[in-house]
Amino acid sequence: MKLQGKVAIVTGSATGIGKAIATGMAAEGAAVVVDYVGAPDLANAVVGNIRSKGGKAMAIEADVSNPDQVNSLVQQTIKAMGRIDIFVNNAGMESKHPFTEYPFELWQKVIAIDLTGPFLCAQAAAKAMIQQGNGGRIVNISSVHEDLPMPTNAPYCAAKGGLRMLMRTIAVELAPHKITVNNIAPGAIYTPIDADVEANNKIESALMAEIPLGRWGKPQEVADLAIFLASDAAGYCTGSTFFIDGGMLRQSGSL
Ligand code: BGC
Repeated sequence: MKLQGKVAIVTGSATGIGKAIATGMAAEGAAVVVDYVGAPDLANAVVGNIRSKGGKAMAIEADVSNPDQVNSLVQQTIKAMGRIDIFVNNAGMESKHPFTEYPFELWQKVIAIDLTGPFLCAQAAAKAMIQQGNGGRIVNISSVHEDLPMPTNAPYCAAKGGLRMLMRTIAVELAPHKITVNNIAPGAIYTPIDADVEANNKIESALMAEIPLGRWGKPQEVADLAIFLASDAAGYCTGSTFFIDGGMLRQSGSL
């Protein structure tokens, strides 16, 4: 068991990649907090599934873009589980619109959830970890789009690019406290965030043609990388982005 005795919070873990990370970390011995917004049934199902396999988990509702709710998420975790060792910034959203028509309110919402959220969460987690005094792990679920432009997804790309520099900067600041900070940058992973693409054969085939390995990634594959970065084995990894994209960033088209 790679995470025996650790306590982990995974934001946005009622579905998708977050769900796989919460479930995977619990299977490796961590007590896990399943953070969610507005989907108690889905969050409780993840908790129930973990408990049915003998793992420890609880669900807490908290909006990552709300400072009070984020502080309460960390405090409730410490009260219920005694400490916090691992924080996974997974919650995220995207909404695609041409740049010249991108609604301002939606820009603010995407930035709030995808960039301000990880700032608030990492800050609250780091404060608690510093107080505990024995290090910690912060893992951000970024995207290939922290580097690769994606037309019609300007705020998402801006937030993920920002998350790259947030991670690099706080990794340096938190290193003296033995808190590591890294990004996982997934490519196309088969989850509800891409429901529109999964439902359209033509668009799906075009996407697969962009991926040298020619297939969607699985949430479990991202979870395995998150487990590694959260484990003692990754003690010398900090300030880096780990891509998991089937080679998407290296594709050379029709060359
Ligand atoms: C986006 C998906 C997209 C994938 C690969 C992810 O970050 O959420 O919509 O398919 O990147 O481009």
